Amino acid sequence: MKRFTSIVITGASSGIGDALARCYAEPGVALALIGRDQPRLQAVAEACRAKNAIVHIGQIDVTDRTALAAWLTRFDDAHPVDLVVANAGISIDKDNSSLDDFSRIHKTMDVNVGGVLNTIEPLLPRLMQRGQGQIAVVSSLAGFFGLPYSASYNASKAAVRVWGESIRYVLKKHGIGVSVICPGFVVSPMTATAPFPTPFLMSAERAAAIIRRGLARNHARIAFPIGIQAAVWLGQTLPGRWTARLLGA
Ligand SMILES: NC(=O)c1ccc[n+]([C@@H]2O[C@H](COP(=O)([O-])OP(=O)(O)OC[C@H]3O[C@@H](n4cnc5c(N)ncnc54)[C@H](OP(=O)(O)O)[C@@H]3O)[C@@H](O)[C@H]2O)c1
Repeated sequence: MKRFTSIVITGASSGIGDALARCYAEPGVALALIGRDQPRLQAVAEACRAKNAIVHIGQIDVTDRTALAAWLTRFDDAHPVDLVVANAGISIDKDNSSLDDFSRIHKTMDVNVGGVLNTIEPLLPRLMQRGQGQIAVVSSLAGFFGLPYSASYNASKAAVRVWGESIRYVLKKHGIGVSVICPGFVVSPMTATAPFPTPFLMSAERAAAIIRRGLARNHARIAFPIGIQAAVWLGQTLPGRWTARLLGA
């Protein structure tokens, strides 16, 4: 079981990232909380400091590769990172509007894929040099096959899932664990605006506890809840034309 003492969380100002920060906050833990909304970040930081964690706030857009790298390396100098959770993400084509406006697709890829890479890139050489650490890539159970909504979101989550799964093999030789996190529906502003059903909706606190347990065990994939997992398994197992027909195409 791994215990982490210097933790980077992007997208810490809301939803799953917020809950993860609070879940890890305890004496002896340094947290790097990254997001764009200063008041919300500040509120999470206060809650974590109240639990006696050391907290640094980075008000940074994860698509800003240079600013993020500079901030993360400074944090790592002060508190050598042993867990990085690339969690920041957006879902802006739930209504399929991205087919009318491809800039939404580019934006989704920039944040959900580029942002993950920008988060891990500056820390990876340092983790490799130290020969330890854990990387968590936040994907989604929406990233396993095409769905009738959120095309660019689903594609971005498939990209980071497969990337994370692949680098796990390489980084194992360097003593670094990689976990891909695939939540179903979790209560957050992201699901609050979903124009489709969100079965098996789970609280962010419960999701954070499951993620924490999986990361401590270096699980390759941390997927939940079982109900959505089962549906995804079925969708992947059936011939593509059956899955498409079941989903209405
Ligand atoms: N909720 C779900 O059901 C669900 C299911 C599967 C996967 N996920 C994934 O879990 C992750 C967290 O989602 P959530 O539900 O917690 O959503 P959320 O409540 O909307 O939070 C998203 C977080 O990402 C941050 N963020 C977005 N764009 C950013 C940018 N350009 N730069 C820096 N930070 C940025 C936001 O920070 P600011 O607001 O401060 O910019 C916020 O803290 C996402 O990757 C999402 O795709 C969620």
